[in-house]
Amino acid sequence: MPIISLSSFKGGVSKTTSAICLASLFCSDGATLVIDADPNRSATTWSRPGGLPFQVCGEKEAAKLMRQQSFEFIIFDTPARPNDVEVEELARGCDLLVVPTPPDLLGIDAMALMAKSLPADANWRVLLSMVPPPPQKDGLEAMEALKAQGYPVFSRGIRLYKAYKDAVTLGVPVHKVKGGKVAWRDWTELKKEVLQAIQG
Ligand SMILES: Nc1ncnc2c1ncn2[C@@H]1O[C@H](COP(=O)(O)OP(=O)(O)O)[C@@H](O)[C@H]1O
Ligand SMILES: [Mg+2]
Repeated sequence: MPIISLSSFKGGVSKTTSAICLASLFCSDGATLVIDADPNRSATTWSRPGGLPFQVCGEKEAAKLMRQQSFEFIIFDTPARPNDVEVEELARGCDLLVVPTPPDLLGIDAMALMAKSLPADANWRVLLSMVPPPPQKDGLEAMEALKAQGYPVFSRGIRLYKAYKDAVTLGVPVHKVKGGKVAWRDWTELKKEVLQAIQG
């Protein structure tokens, strides 16, 4: 039962979006649970219309739900600004910690700070999120810079598409909305890398 956690010091970097998309990706392989540990309950809001093909529950409900049902994948969505103790707990409490960041200075600075507070043996990856479309080169440049600095970055970034906001509004996975198939391709192509990363 792999556990993937999403975390970042900064808000609005795509943690919840990534949690829901990763769950949408893995739920076809087995029962998947998203644990919403953010007091904003964004993942829960996304799930409320009932169109997500997996369950989302609050962190305080999770233990009982996991006793009643068995899950193949657990995805843990968390609030921004964890303190050092929480970062350590998060890293210890999962098989893979994913830190999304858009390819901009503020996001990357926050990611770098988180990298410093992670335990040395943490299994973690940076996920470039909200990558603007060509001809803008932000995504490519950030990817090269992160790799050059030795950060463990997924080689596939997630592009910026309006479909993500529509998916929240409609309460469905992104591939279910108009224009969402092309956005979804980023996740299907990321899947293998995520599975490899879980192995450590
Ligand atoms: N790849 C993307 N393309 C377009 N909008 C995105 C993308 N990823 C996230 N968003 C939007 O950015 C906002 C913040 O994303 P969210 O996942 O809620 O971030 P966090 O959980 O880190 O606060 C949301 O409105 C979301 O719909
Ligand atoms: Mg969130």
